[in-house]
Amino acid sequence: MEQTAGNIEDSLRSVNGYIAAELAAIDREVFNFEKFPFSFMGKASRARFTLLMARALGAESRRAEKAAAAAELTHTASLLHDDCLDMARYRRGLPTLYDQVGVNSAILVGDLLIALAFECAGRAAPDLQESLVEAVKRMTKGALIEENSRGKKIPAAAAEKIVALKTGALFRWCALAACRLAEKPEMLDDCARLGEEAGSAFQLIDDVLDFEGDADACGKETLKDIKEGKFTLPLILALNDAQAGPRAEKLLASVKAGPEADLAPALDLAELVRKGGFSGTARKTAAEKLKNLFPLIDTFPHRKEAEALKDFLLALGARTA
Ligand code: FPP
Ligand code: MG
Repeated sequence: MEQTAGNIEDSLRSVNGYIAAELAAIDREVFNFEKFPFSFMGKASRARFTLLMARALGAESRRAEKAAAAAELTHTASLLHDDCLDMARYRRGLPTLYDQVGVNSAILVGDLLIALAFECAGRAAPDLQESLVEAVKRMTKGALIEENSRGKKIPAAAAEKIVALKTGALFRWCALAACRLAEKPEMLDDCARLGEEAGSAFQLIDDVLDFEGDADACGKETLKDIKEGKFTLPLILALNDAQAGPRAEKLLASVKAGPEADLAPALDLAELVRKGGFSGTARKTAAEKLKNLFPLIDTFPHRKEAEALKDFLLALGARTA
């Protein structure tokens, strides 16, 4: 039965409750989730995107909530692993699990969450498990390509591929899941593209915020990408600029990671990226990607919900945290 009505915030609360119940069911001897202050849902952008897509396409809301929970569990699992890779101390305004319980347990909790995510996807619809496997494969490929590229000046096209895989893949799955649950097979390819582009734009803004953002508002450290040797679009644009490029190269060579490292070169490089307009250009690229999706969204059957989806995408492109 089609059931799209109701408040999106109520649906998000259901997703949150669903995840909380999954975690509460884990034996405390395995991992005591209550003991560690860690947010398992963050901004819930993937859940919100799944629910909005589902409403705009006409999917049943209870199943969409399960798909949204699967997306958030997958995302959090990937962040638990990512924080180990990046040795990150803060996430969602709190110490990372890597910081609180160490690398071994953080990785294993991530493994547990990804297993819960597959289970949850299967409850939304059995075949969604298979497509989630494909999404996790893509995410992992993206993370590995990024890992292999650390410290290397990659071209913009290579950075674009990393972004499409490591983040675009999960948004792609969210859109595919919504389309599957709405039983619109003829729209699967378009939804896959929409999801991947929305996810890529989301990550581009994330990369911009690493230079422009406020650490407290973002709930995580900033200037992390340059310290970790990640060449994201704002930095690539600066390095490729005839005027700013040589100074950017010089500053980058002096950037060091670690608590004792001199922060000045990283701060100067961030200022160059901001004031030279390179982070602004990356933001515009993201905003354009999102705007280009609007003609497709205009073909979705539920008009009011489609407009809400467009508003959400506009907010993603404009976000400052
Ligand atoms: C954050 O990127 C990380 C991702 C978007 C995905 C990372 C993917 C994996 C670790 C592989 C998939 C693993 C599982 C278990 C699904 P970022 O470092 O640019 O963002 P940040 O600034 O928030 O850390
Ligand atoms: Mg990271």
